[in-house]
Amino acid sequence: MTRHFLVDTDLTPDEQASVLDLAASLKADRFSRRPLAGPQTVGVVFDKTSTRTRVSFATGVSDLGGSPLIINPGESQLGHKESIADSARVFSRMLAAVVWRTYEQAGLEEMAEHSTVPVVNGLSDDYHPCQILADLLTLREHFGDLAGRTLAYVGDAANNMANSYLLGCATAGMHVRVAGPEGYLPREDVVAAARERAGATGGSVLVTTDAREALAGADAVVTDTWVSMGQESEKAERTEIFAAYSVTAEAMALAAQDAVFLHCLPAYRGLEVAAEVIDGPASLVWDEAENRLHAQKALLTFLLDSSGLSADLPAALRREETR
Ligand code: CP
Ligand code: NVA
Repeated sequence: MTRHFLVDTDLTPDEQASVLDLAASLKADRFSRRPLAGPQTVGVVFDKTSTRTRVSFATGVSDLGGSPLIINPGESQLGHKESIADSARVFSRMLAAVVWRTYEQAGLEEMAEHSTVPVVNGLSDDYHPCQILADLLTLREHFGDLAGRTLAYVGDAANNMANSYLLGCATAGMHVRVAGPEGYLPREDVVAAARERAGATGGSVLVTTDAREALAGADAVVTDTWVSMGQESEKAERTEIFAAYSVTAEAMALAAQDAVFLHCLPAYRGLEVAAEVIDGPASLVWDEAENRLHAQKALLTFLLDSSGLSADLPAALRREETR
């Protein structure tokens, strides 16, 4: 069966933990796995712009013995001149995996439905699960165990990062709190899925409009831009709506004394985060950015292994069909 990673809960708690273990071992020994030996090609398709996702997947695929094919916005027929299903069928004949940054989650689901190779969500309007793996790796490096730790997300609580923190941190057995203004809170189905996961892992979920309630005693404080890709025309309005949710030094003071700060980047200093926080001693954002590389290499290795498509597998364990 082909394994995909479209949303954080596509990995079970045990699988997420083993991907993070593998990420740590790949960070320590960068070229120790070669599931893409050949070199096999991984398509990395962008409908939106990117720095970290592009660089980390391009580098990671090469590290794993493969060759990345970056397709920039507007460069392929996908989704406009050709259906997602037909593109998926073509990709599956040549590529070892597809990473896709796009708008609608439904597009990723359609791609996965018609793909015989792993499909990875490189960010959609709803989720950014690769980023959460990198964040969890960063927190694990800093605190050791994730289970029982509290993460507070403050800002646009209806965006892809908030959703993925809810699902990914609940999967890790963390206590996850998200705070945002009325009208900018996560969808009920996302909260319900996070609560279900938290029920199985010993974590918990809190959704509130009160930033202070979310921040109180938290081990990790996180935020994201108030204006996600595709929302640029709402910038002025959003800047006003979210002003009370800025992560300032005063906000950090409400968290635990040894609390750390994370941000997926790109960051807007003076808006969602104060410069003294993101550039200060509590900030782990550069480790977090680097960890995209290690976490995604582990994810790709896991997906290829468990789909029977890894060049590292003995021939007898490899899937019959050839590309
Ligand atoms: N954090 C993140 O996904 O960054 P890019 O948009 O630069 O890929
Ligand atoms: N919420 C942001 C994340 C960028 C990595 C966006 O979607 O633009």
